[in-house]
Order: sequence, then C-alpha cells, then structure tokens
Amino acid sequence: MSNTENRLALGFNIDHIINIRQARFTPYPDLLETLRLVETGGADGITLHLREDRRHIQDADVYTVREHCTTRMNLEMAATEEMANIACDVHPEDCCIVPEKREELTTEGGLDVIKQFDRIKKVTQRLNQENIRVSLFIEPSKEHIERVPDIGAPVIELHTGTYANLHGDAQKRELERIIEAAEFAESHGIIVNAGHGLDNKNTQAIAAIPQMRELNIGHYLVARAVFVGIKQAILEMKLLMAEARQ
Ligand code: PXP
Repeated sequence: MSNTENRLALGFNIDHIINIRQARFTPYPDLLETLRLVETGGADGITLHLREDRRHIQDADVYTVREHCTTRMNLEMAATEEMANIACDVHPEDCCIVPEKREELTTEGGLDVIKQFDRIKKVTQRLNQENIRVSLFIEPSKEHIERVPDIGAPVIELHTGTYANLHGDAQKRELERIIEAAEFAESHGIIVNAGHGLDNKNTQAIAAIPQMRELNIGHYLVARAVFVGIKQAILEMKLLMAEARQ
C-alpha cells in the first residue's frame, strides 16, 4: 500500500463480513457496499483470504474485489498451485502467502519457510513473474526471516497473533521479538508489515515500530463496526495508529 516515509497503512480484512453472508448464504452483507464503505472510510487496502475450504471468501468474490477495488487488493492464500493459478489470473497488487490447515479456526502461526522452502519459493517466483508483490506471513524469528531473500519475496507480514494472545511480561517479551525481527528484516532490505489479532488495546505498540509499513486487521474492526459502523471503526483505528507514530 502506498507509503510515504512515516506513513503506516491499514489493510482492512473483509473475511469476517463475508463470514456473516456465508453463515446463511444470503445476498447480504453485500460485497460491493462493503468495498465502498471500507474504501471511502479511509482504509488503504482490501485484504481477503481465499481459503482452500472456501469457508468465507468465494472465488467470485475475488474477481469482484479485483474489478471494483480502488485502493490495493491483498489476496491471502496458501502456497498451492490452485491458488497460484487464481492469483495469476486475478492479478492482485499484493499476495500474502499464509499457512493453512483445514480444521483451524483462523490462521494459526506463520509459514515454515525452512521446511516449506521449495514450495514457497516456487509460488513466490511465479507471482514475481506476474509483477504481483509477494508477502510471506511469518513468525518474528530471525531464522525464518533470513531465508526470505532467497525465496525472493520483497515483503513479510509478521504474525502478531501470539503477541495478541499474551498478557503482561510475556506480551512484552513477544513485543521485543517483533521489534527485533522488524529491525533485522529491514537490515536485509525486506519491507515489514504485521497482522493478526490486533485490536484497540494492542495495536499501538505494533504501530509504533518504525519499520512497520502496513497493518492488516479484520476481526476487531468488523466487531467494532457492529456497534459504530465501518467508517467510524476505521477512523478510530487510524487515529490510534497515527497517534502511535508521533
Ligand atoms: N493477516 C493475516 C495473514 C491473516 O491471515 C489474518 C486473518 O485472516 C489477518 C491478518 C487479520 O487477522 P484478524 O482478523 O485477527 O485481525
């Protein structure tokens, strides 16, 4: 997402809006209205995860977002041939490669770029050839970050789910790991994003990390939007993020 030096972009993950639609296979909440509200509300991009089990986002949604998205489209997907074929057909600006297990409630943990090196590299290189910017969703671990340049991905998204689920000193220690990982990644020329489990209480510490370029947030924003509407939920989050950068 477009950034000037100190700017931190917000990617709005729309999966949980579509979850409501898929719970009853209704035509609402409407995807086009979702896009309109999220983009006019000030989000810098639309993030959506086409899961292999199609539990929320459907193939047709991916094409609709491509056609109507006026900001940036960030397609989250597993490193499979099927998903690579779809991405190469759809041409999102960004693709975030994530690990996927069928039975999980949501994405659990980052990619294992060591064990899955060949498979992730193959998909990354295919997407690179199509000029789709690849981001790898990984743990804040130097061992993993070190392998990213060899894979050929210009961006990582640091997994903040563990940080979000911890409290007190344990959370502070995990935050330190994220800070060190962001510095380490930058020193290797990698662009750093973050996401997962971010909310109104835990986002500012992540937003304050100078290397951060984009935060991808879904569940909290959708939950907040139930009470105050999508635009207000985005406005509140963008204010928190801006305050943390001052
Ligand atoms: N980033 C990635 C790679 C994800 O898989 C998800 C969840 O789909 C998010 C960000 C957003 O997480 P949350 O819904 O917890 O804000």
